[in-house]
Amino acid sequence: MQAIARAQPNIALIKYWGKRDRTLNLPAVGSISVTLADLYTEMGVDFDGGSDTDVLTVNGEGDAQMLPRVSRCLSTVAGEDRSAARIESRCNFPLAAGLASSASAFAALVVAASAAAGQQHSTAELASLAGQASGSAARSLYGGFAELENKNDGVSVDSILGAAEWPLSVVIAITSVSPKPISSGKAMEISRNTSPFYGRWVDGQTRDLDLARAAIEERDFDKLAAVSEHNCLKMHSVMWASRPPIVYWNAATLSCMQTIRDLRSQGVGVFFTIDAGPQVKAVCAVSDTQRVREALSSTGGVENVMVSGLGPGAQLTKCE
Ligand code: PMV
Repeated sequence: MQAIARAQPNIALIKYWGKRDRTLNLPAVGSISVTLADLYTEMGVDFDGGSDTDVLTVNGEGDAQMLPRVSRCLSTVAGEDRSAARIESRCNFPLAAGLASSASAFAALVVAASAAAGQQHSTAELASLAGQASGSAARSLYGGFAELENKNDGVSVDSILGAAEWPLSVVIAITSVSPKPISSGKAMEISRNTSPFYGRWVDGQTRDLDLARAAIEERDFDKLAAVSEHNCLKMHSVMWASRPPIVYWNAATLSCMQTIRDLRSQGVGVFFTIDAGPQVKAVCAVSDTQRVREALSSTGGVENVMVSGLGPGAQLTKCE
């Protein structure tokens, strides 16, 4: 059988950085994210592809580097005795540049693989399977505002609010499309082993999650802005204090942060967040999207600006 699924990346407002179990890929902390609407990965899985080994293409080209991770994920979903698969991935935004392309890719992969293998999994089960491949992918199974919680020997993801219940815009300033200097998985381990701030980061997460969850439930933008920027800067402080230091930012990243602070001082409700890459994601009311977009587009060093609303969780688009 063959199946196609589509998933959108998600952007963490309260972030995950560090693992408590590397074998099961379990995060050290919970996280809260928003799932985007307009950026996506489309993933096709065909178990009757006529090949003896898995074959992966990403945007039409063979990808030997990602293949082992993709094959492992397929076996987790469809079992070790599954047939070889042909996997076709298409993505409408830059890969491996801190735009959560692995989140949308693995969320779409588990949905497509499960359908192509003729299995029935609940969203919660699919989220847990996706999370084993990429921690943040579990959140892309859900739309709108989602929270990933650490539960005993696993994780569980729940929706806080649907995308339509609090429509916001995410304006993404692309400051470099080069692949990131170090993968988030490796960087997290360096932080856990060497950053003097790592323990404090883990200990402070419950408070940030509580504040952000309450802000979302109350639709209190200023409260969400304050805790999200604080949490983002704490995560990057953990990285910067690691040995060797992990610095994903460039000069334009800092300029964008200043643009966002300037907009705020002019009365625009907007805040930033930054992941394992140099791009800056600005979150604002839908009515302020154009103003934020123009300000970021004219910020020095910004190569491109993308805009997205909040969207749904991963969906199966075809199965035959
Ligand atoms: O899903 P991973 O293993 O690539 O980790 C993602 C980590 C951050 O994007 C920096 C934060 C997050 O919670 O998404």
